[in-house]
Amino acid sequence: MNSTLLGIDALVKGYRLGQQFIEVLCGLSLHVAQGEMVAIMGPSGSGKTTLLNCICGIDAPQGGIVTIAGQVIDYNDEHARTLLRRKKIGQVFQFFNLIPTLTVAENVGLPLLIDRDIRHKDGKRVNEMLTLVGMSERRDHLPFQLSGGEMQLVSIARALVHGPDLLLADEPTGNVNPQVGRSIMRILRDTARREGSGVLMVTHSPEHAAWADRVCFLKEGIIASELVHKGQADAPAPIYARLLALGI
Ligand SMILES: Nc1ncnc2c1ncn2[C@@H]1O[C@H](COP(=O)(O)OP(=O)(O)OP(=O)(O)O)[C@@H](O)[C@H]1O
Ligand SMILES: [Mg+2]
Repeated sequence: MNSTLLGIDALVKGYRLGQQFIEVLCGLSLHVAQGEMVAIMGPSGSGKTTLLNCICGIDAPQGGIVTIAGQVIDYNDEHARTLLRRKKIGQVFQFFNLIPTLTVAENVGLPLLIDRDIRHKDGKRVNEMLTLVGMSERRDHLPFQLSGGEMQLVSIARALVHGPDLLLADEPTGNVNPQVGRSIMRILRDTARREGSGVLMVTHSPEHAAWADRVCFLKEGIIASELVHKGQADAPAPIYARLLALGI
């Protein structure tokens, strides 16, 4: 059994609305091992993005402990959180978040530049990543010259360029056609296998969740159910069945 890469224990996160405190995550626990790909599914508004934001330190929970690669996140230390995010985490957002004035290659190289990573110098690492996602031909394009699927592939190259321990992906296939969706799933799964990274992906699609080793169902603030699926990409039926059983 691989060792735990991401540990989430008893996470509590809510939002204050006037006098009221609305709890979104109610003591949620979840673990991801090295080299494991885990999918999270759950209704809209169930707290999937909130969970990812707490893991990457953009948002601070009111309770619980999050550990990444052996390091406990200190939510009171903004600087430490930023460093952790830069060095250990790669993020894929639903709406790409590419910088419109930078070329594809510049966007992909940005995490290395910001982190003063020596691999930024010769551009080799960026080229490798562009090849990995099949975007080498587009390296000098600006984001507006790309299709939605191409933008998502570029944002995946950017998320992986620094070799993160943990990849967080929020609906990475939400805006792409089925063929690109499958390419993205293959890249995420191969990254987990090859690099031993942990991959935590939010998706509404049982077809895409079927690529994961494990599917976790988020409902009413906790992981209400789990399915060990072992990456059987051609067998989404048990995932549909579980969603139905849970009323998701
Ligand atoms: N900054 C905020 N202030 C108040 N409430 C918030 C805030 N951010 C999120 N929420 C609430 O928390 C709940 C969970 O939101 P979240 O975005 O995590 O859901 P989600 O599961 O990612 O949904 P979707 O599948 O639609 O992306 C929602 O009810 C949302 O309104
Ligand atoms: Mg969301």
